[in-house]
Amino acid sequence: MDTITEEKKTKDAEDFMPIMGTDYIELYVSNSKQAAYYYQTAFGFEAHAYAGLETGLKDRESYVVIQDKVRVVLTSPLKSGTEIGEHIDKHGDGVKVIALWVDDATQAYNEAVNRGAKSYMEPREEKDDHGKGVRSGIHIYGDTVHIFVERKDYNGTFLPGYRKWDSGVESKPIGLKYIDHMVGNVELGQMNEWVKFYQDVLGFKQILSFDDKDISTKYTALMSKVMSNGNGRIKFPINEPAAGIKKSQVDEYLEFYQGSGVQHVAVATDNIIKTIAELRSRGIEFLNIPDTYYYELEDRVGEIEEKTATLRELGILVDRDDEGYLLQIFTKPIQPRPTMFFEIIQRKGATSFGKGNFKALFEAIEREQELRGTL
Ligand code: FE2
Repeated sequence: MDTITEEKKTKDAEDFMPIMGTDYIELYVSNSKQAAYYYQTAFGFEAHAYAGLETGLKDRESYVVIQDKVRVVLTSPLKSGTEIGEHIDKHGDGVKVIALWVDDATQAYNEAVNRGAKSYMEPREEKDDHGKGVRSGIHIYGDTVHIFVERKDYNGTFLPGYRKWDSGVESKPIGLKYIDHMVGNVELGQMNEWVKFYQDVLGFKQILSFDDKDISTKYTALMSKVMSNGNGRIKFPINEPAAGIKKSQVDEYLEFYQGSGVQHVAVATDNIIKTIAELRSRGIEFLNIPDTYYYELEDRVGEIEEKTATLRELGILVDRDDEGYLLQIFTKPIQPRPTMFFEIIQRKGATSFGKGNFKALFEAIEREQELRGTL
C-alpha cells in the first residue's frame, strides 16, 4: 500500500466524527417564558423560535433565542411527572443538551454508539413545510446529553416543529459571537473516564491538562483536561475536584447540581469592554476581582491594547500564552443554586484558557463560597 493511501486512511480514521460546530445548547429551566425574557433583555439575545401547545406539543414549551452563532433553547414542562420536571427538581436550572452540528446525524449516532456511547435518542427524522431535519442523541456525564443535529435539508426557523417567534421585546445585542468552550464538572475520579470517552467515542484529542499544582489556592484545588474535536471548533474542558483543606468549587457544584453537569459556557465577543460595560449596566453580576490583581497585571502579561484602568473598572481578567493574549470574565451563577455560570472571552491570538488567572479567580470564588457558607 502506498504512502498516500496510508495517510488518507489514517486521516479518514481520525475523521470518523466530523462536527461542524455547536448547534445549540438547551437548558431545562423552571420558567422558560421568563428565562427567555432575561436572555433577551439582559444578554441581548433575539427572539427566534417557539414550540409549545400552539404547535402541537402537550408536555413542554421551548423558546429559542439567538445572538450571532449562539443559539439557546429554554425548555419547561407543562405538567408534572415529566423527564424535564424531574431534571429541574434534581439539578435546578441547567444545561441538558449540548447539540452538535453534523452533516449526517444517523451516521454520527451509529459511530458513537458502536464505539460505546449510551443511546439517548435514536435517529429521528422531523419534517414540516420547510424541509426535514434529523436528530439523534447520546448520553454524556450526569444527566447531560449530546444531540447530533443534521439540518442540511431544512430551511425553516430553527428546526421542524418550531415556528418563528416574535416576542415584541426590543433586544440590543451585546456582541456575543459563538460558543468558545463549555466546561463539565465531573465527580472525583471520573475525569479520565470522560477524557477517554471523548477520545474513543467522538474522536476528540486532549489539548491541555492542568493538575492541582496549576489550579489550587490555599484552600481548594481541581484538575482539568481540555478535549477538542478535529477542527478545533468544539472545546470541552473537563474538571474534577482535588483534595484541599476546604471544599472546592467543583465539590460545591457537584453537591448543588447533585452530580456531574455543565459548569460554564464561555461565549466569545470581539469587544469585551463594550460587552461587559453593557452587561453591567443591565445588572448582570460578575465575580469581584481584587484591585491587587491589576497592580501586577502589566508585569505579568506585558503590553496589551486595553487600558488597565478600564479592565479594573469592569473586572476583566487578562492572560497571555505563546500565541497572544486573552481577556475573560465570569458571571456569578445565573440561577439560585451555585451551579452554572457564563464566561465572556475575547481572544487576541491566545488559544489557551487563562491558566494565569486561575488563582485570582478561585480566590474570588472562595470569597463567594464563604458568603454562602459552603467553603
Ligand atoms: Fe472557561
